[in-house]
Amino acid sequence: MGAGNTEIEASGGSSSWWRKLFTVKSMDSLQVDISKSEMKRSLTYVDITAIGIGAIIGTGIFVLTGNAAALKAGPAIVLSFIVSGIAAATAALSYSEMACMIPVAGSAYTYAYATMGELAGWIIGWDLILEYLVGAATVSVGWSGYFTKFLNTSFGLYIDKKWTSAPFKFANDEFQLTGDYVNLPAIAISLVITLLLSFGVRESARVNTVMVLIKVVVVLLIIFACIGSIEPKNYTPFMPPNEGTFEKFGVTGMFSAATTVFFAYIGFDAISTAAQEAKNPQRDLPIGICGSLIICTILYIAVCLIMTGVVPYRDLAPGGEANAAPMSIVIAKTGMGWVNVIVSLGILFGLASVMLVMLLGQPRIFYAMANDGLFPAFAARIHPRFKTPWATTMISGISCAILGGILPVDVLGEMTSVGTLFAFFLVNIGVIILRIKRPDLERKFKVPLGPYVIPLFGAALSLLLIATAPAATIARLFIWMAIGLVIYVFYGRTHSKLNNPHLARYQNEKFTEHDF
Ligand code: ALA
Repeated sequence: MGAGNTEIEASGGSSSWWRKLFTVKSMDSLQVDISKSEMKRSLTYVDITAIGIGAIIGTGIFVLTGNAAALKAGPAIVLSFIVSGIAAATAALSYSEMACMIPVAGSAYTYAYATMGELAGWIIGWDLILEYLVGAATVSVGWSGYFTKFLNTSFGLYIDKKWTSAPFKFANDEFQLTGDYVNLPAIAISLVITLLLSFGVRESARVNTVMVLIKVVVVLLIIFACIGSIEPKNYTPFMPPNEGTFEKFGVTGMFSAATTVFFAYIGFDAISTAAQEAKNPQRDLPIGICGSLIICTILYIAVCLIMTGVVPYRDLAPGGEANAAPMSIVIAKTGMGWVNVIVSLGILFGLASVMLVMLLGQPRIFYAMANDGLFPAFAARIHPRFKTPWATTMISGISCAILGGILPVDVLGEMTSVGTLFAFFLVNIGVIILRIKRPDLERKFKVPLGPYVIPLFGAALSLLLIATAPAATIARLFIWMAIGLVIYVFYGRTHSKLNNPHLARYQNEKFTEHDF
């Protein structure tokens, strides 16, 4: 990847510490990054769209949607998907403008560094850990649920729930012990994927395209296998009345569910990390980002109508407890056991591919940040033989395994959703700032309707969705960002190459940049 070891020019020039927080990585240095990139430009818009779909379809639709419908929105989950889809679409347009203007691999971290300065870059980079690392952990728990179900329905094998469930749950405003030990399948899948990535097994475009085809076929199979079992009476009441608490049904429940299922849209931005491998990034990135989002939105709405039409919404989470494999409940209702086996297998591959993209993306972001001096230099080390950022891959994978092993899917998924919404908020704002500060830059793709309407609306909607998340989740977001700020103040600020050029020279002598 190309973020990093170029001559970096600070545009600020003042040495006062507070001005340093806003020094931006200049567009010219980013252009040098792009021109120096040795990555092969081989991806077409079909490949890029496939990468997007590969990263998007996963735990969100296969696990979280059923639970959000059962516990928060009822059939109005369709509206939740439309609301969060609009938030995702505004961010997709902003990402498209940024990605074709700055087609380097650091994603939103690089965009923020180039537009709002070092502090904003750090904040977004730190925040992206929630999207990629915690997101991967969320998907690992989803994988575990379908894996246990698959073993059971296909081979009659049963693993004691104590070894497939989290020891903690969050209820009544506190973490409580569940009596279970640990989610072993979630840990196992995280470690397997981490090992693959450490040894340099990257998802090639072709493998990814095959995985995506399997995933889309599975979704279509669900739709067509179940459509005949829809009972229209299940759609009433379409929006069950609120039950007294904010999240439980009614309009507020529908919004709260929108924040939960927002998770299902996460992933199209992973396309921006492949920017340097696109044949024609200025044309193909916007096509890939918007195209993958449109295809997934259509599939999602169809799946929501199927789920809530086939099964009375409360039965998607029997006993009011979040269910690990709600899609199996829907398919079981059709009486076609063979479909359940195929779908579970397809879902297992599909979820693993989402984890692969996320655990590939996270070390790249760490790497870009380390290359800029904001993380210790060891994080920018590349394995001499496998040419992978093995240190950050291991750190990301082991952290993911621990989180997936001990926390439940709703806590992880909601953290990922609010973290990503916050990143989308910043990217929308970044588009506005860059249009004002650098109107001269060539933009092959522009957010329609001018620089304000869509990005401002998107930023506001992102904030609204964050605000409708459970209070504990919002508190955790604040705590996470506060920890990040402390690290920046005591480490990043004093080690950044942009603001400490003498350190940059020293580090550049010690480490050289490799593609990986
Ligand atoms: N959108 C991805 C999923 O739902 C992260 O698994």
